[in-house]
Amino acid sequence: MTSREFHPGKPWLDTDGRLIEAHGGGILYHEGIYYWYGENKDAENSEAHKQSGIDRVDVIGVSCYSSKDLYHWNNEGTVLHANEEPGHDLHPSHVLERPKVLYNAWTKQFVMWMHVDHGDYQFARVGLAVSERPTGPFRYVRSFRPGGYDSRDMTVYQDDDGTAYLICSTNMNSKVVTFPLTGDYLDVQNASAEHFVMPNEHMSRESPAVFKYHQTYYMVTSGCTGWDANPAEYAVAPSVMGPWTVVGNPCIGEHADRTYYSQSTFVIPVAGKEHAFIFMADRWNRYHLRESAYVWLPVEFSQNGAITIQWRDVWDLSIFE
Ligand code: GAL
Repeated sequence: MTSREFHPGKPWLDTDGRLIEAHGGGILYHEGIYYWYGENKDAENSEAHKQSGIDRVDVIGVSCYSSKDLYHWNNEGTVLHANEEPGHDLHPSHVLERPKVLYNAWTKQFVMWMHVDHGDYQFARVGLAVSERPTGPFRYVRSFRPGGYDSRDMTVYQDDDGTAYLICSTNMNSKVVTFPLTGDYLDVQNASAEHFVMPNEHMSRESPAVFKYHQTYYMVTSGCTGWDANPAEYAVAPSVMGPWTVVGNPCIGEHADRTYYSQSTFVIPVAGKEHAFIFMADRWNRYHLRESAYVWLPVEFSQNGAITIQWRDVWDLSIFE
């Protein structure tokens, strides 16, 4: 795709003409440039899934792409690499998912948070890596269980005042918890005390994506059906720390009950536009994970602040004008 249009679910090529490999991703906007970080799954599915039963690609690392317009993406390469050292968190036999990057204006560091796990998803930790540049290389720091909680699908959110939060699925995905990060973004604060539980209508929620509009925080999540699509759900809150109120499925129309065959990963605030947000999701291809496509759709607001996400075969940013 080289035009100034989005084609949700269609193969999306970078400026070199190669398929974009940035799954479970998130976007950082920094000094006029968007950076898209995501899982590099550019290999055949591994045979190892036969033991765990979960289709997977060996860990390669985290890709980064840059763009000024959200349509055209330059490949900045793999900015965090797998590590062959036996037992390393990022060993190819392990799991590295849902990387998200924040810029810390105080330390001037780019801080990457990610889900680090073993092939059976029982390690359940967050991992951290840092870099002085948005395009890496990122140095892996450590993994841990925030507040002692198991942590699987996760995201981070940076508020206008610079406070950042970790939002993760915990307690075997039956809860979503949020933690304020420390000032350097390298840990969670008050680990065991400051958490909140999102009251889930359907209990298990994952793949959280958080954004703020008119002083209300929105969290879109998916249900827990592995690589298979399920209905999205969103909740609203006056603070990232809650209390969160479940509203319902933001998707409408045909295939809304499968999130248009995709799973949330992030919501992108379009720079310079107060009411412009893009729902960013993965259309997983479980047998050929590297070919999993991206579904980007505009978030639409009604007067009472309710959101809808509807399918569009093709659209562009003029929708927000
Ligand atoms: C999903 C999760 C993905 C990946 C997958 C593995 O539930 O959202 O990030 O972990 O399971 O089956």
